[in-house]
Amino acid sequence: MVSKRIVLFASGSGSNVENIAHYFKNKPNITIAMVLTNKKEAHVLDRCNRLNISAMYFNKAAFLKTDGVLRVLQGLEPDLIVLAGFLLKIPQNLLDHFPNKIINIHPALLPKYGGKGMYGHHVHEAVKAQGEKETGITIHYVNENYDEGAIIHQAKTEILESDGVATIAQKVHELEHIHFPKVIEEVLTNS
Ligand code: GRF
Repeated sequence: MVSKRIVLFASGSGSNVENIAHYFKNKPNITIAMVLTNKKEAHVLDRCNRLNISAMYFNKAAFLKTDGVLRVLQGLEPDLIVLAGFLLKIPQNLLDHFPNKIINIHPALLPKYGGKGMYGHHVHEAVKAQGEKETGITIHYVNENYDEGAIIHQAKTEILESDGVATIAQKVHELEHIHFPKVIEEVLTNS
């Protein structure tokens, strides 16, 4: 059986990376080829170390202006590139070489609360400030605009009036951990 290969990009804590790694641990048909990060101090690197997952740091300016990361990816031959808490915009050279092969998870129900600056706690603060009764996650393909690619999957959670920003964030994280690995698996199965 030929194993499908995923490459993950992450900039922060990496709880989604760890969750995805656990999900695919006993599934030989899907392999994490590598985790790439633009943050030297990101906690995701500690997680990769503990989980024996190959990981690589790259420089932000080089990522945006050179083909260095593209060359690494070409060597890895990914079937899918997964952005799991990755904060930089994907440059055109990667979009051109991996059409319909890059997906992202956004912690809100797009098209609401997306776009530049809408990441992490900023999203949940805006959702709370608008008095929304629900929020959720959106898993979507990546194109040249932040959070605008075709939607693959959404899942919702209720917001109670008593829920603060931290509770909203926690509910959204739970949804991410439930849905993201399964959606990755589905996308790979159907590709
Ligand atoms: C998630 O909320 C994801 O939706 C967003 O960044 C966060 C990453 O969380 N894009 P973690 O680093 O996987 O814990």
